[in-house]
Amino acid sequence: MIELKNVTKIYPRKGESDVHALDGITLRVRQGEIHGIVGQSGAGKSTLIRCLTALEKPTSGKILVDGKNLATLSPSELRTARRSIGMVFQGANLLDARTAAGNVVYPLRISGMDRGEARARVDEMLRLVGLSDRGTSYPAQLSGGQRQRVAIARAMADNPSVLLCDEPTSALDTETTEQILSLLRDVRDRYGVTVVIITHEMNVVRRICDSVTLLEHGRVVSTGPVGQAVSCVDTPLARQIVPAPILDPEDVKDRAVLDVFFTSRLGQPTGAKVMKIAADLGADIGAGTFDSIKDVQVGRLALTIEHDKVQAALDGFAAAGVFARQRTSGASDGYVRAASPAAGEEEAR
Ligand SMILES: Nc1ncnc2c1ncn2[C@@H]1O[C@H](COP(=O)(O)OP(=O)(O)OP(=O)(O)O)[C@@H](O)[C@H]1O
Ligand SMILES: [Mg+2]
Repeated sequence: MIELKNVTKIYPRKGESDVHALDGITLRVRQGEIHGIVGQSGAGKSTLIRCLTALEKPTSGKILVDGKNLATLSPSELRTARRSIGMVFQGANLLDARTAAGNVVYPLRISGMDRGEARARVDEMLRLVGLSDRGTSYPAQLSGGQRQRVAIARAMADNPSVLLCDEPTSALDTETTEQILSLLRDVRDRYGVTVVIITHEMNVVRRICDSVTLLEHGRVVSTGPVGQAVSCVDTPLARQIVPAPILDPEDVKDRAVLDVFFTSRLGQPTGAKVMKIAADLGADIGAGTFDSIKDVQVGRLALTIEHDKVQAALDGFAAAGVFARQRTSGASDGYVRAASPAAGEEEAR
């Protein structure tokens, strides 16, 4: 388990005001969870992960990994603690002069594992990532996805309790990304490792994260289970995870636009209800996304409708417990002019 309590990281700058890269971060990631950290450039994501690897000391606050406070460990305790933390970066960062197997065995030999045991472990890891037959290949002979698999094998070799990933799929194409994401999930399922993934790809959050934190200016805007985050229709985090439907003005013509956002547990007929209300009032779906995230069905629709039907539609959706709002002219998507948060939303801040 990972716990951060009121963590700050301040970088002093000569002649200028200090940078508060982390400004009182409190969050918890449970053992065996896959946790996404999202936020704009400069939000503090990499600083956070560097603090988690103990490569960087926080200015104040506690960082507990499996109950040990990284900030107060002695150098030798820190070396032991680092063995329980595996890391995967955007570029796989492999040693070019070593084979795939050589890269995986390297940290094991450094940590003093005997040759036979290390070799068995390397075989197991290469099997885990589906590269049993490529152990003798050098990084230059492997594809980007294969190199990232080797990096995951290396990170998992010493049996860490935590796997930290900084943009692990950002350099990969869509299909390879999917493969790496399923691999990370397999690894978690098999070894129960806690995974923290920094990413700017919301697809990563939708596909494999159990929980997620949104950072902004070094602060936690929102943190919690992904299913809960996407169940909110109009929070900053929900807006990031579920893309807003963009409507082509050509399709609007002189009709009104309604944004209809809903979430429901799988098996509930909310989607069908929404479609029926829309059809009964002669509304068309101008744009929309449907997705199934965790055990939640997520729908974001932009409906076009005759102006004199707007009120009836808003009433109908309200009666069905579905969030609907007329889009103001000029907004390219329903999120842009977000009013106050809808009822039932939970946000950490
Ligand atoms: N070593 C450093 N010295 C001074 N300022 C730093 C240092 N490292 C990071 N910062 C500042 O801290 C803030 C957070 O940086 P960080 O790299 O954590 O952002 P990030 O969320 O990872 O961004 P990106 O998505 O662009 O990678 C930024 O304002 C950055 O300029
Ligand atoms: Mg970064």
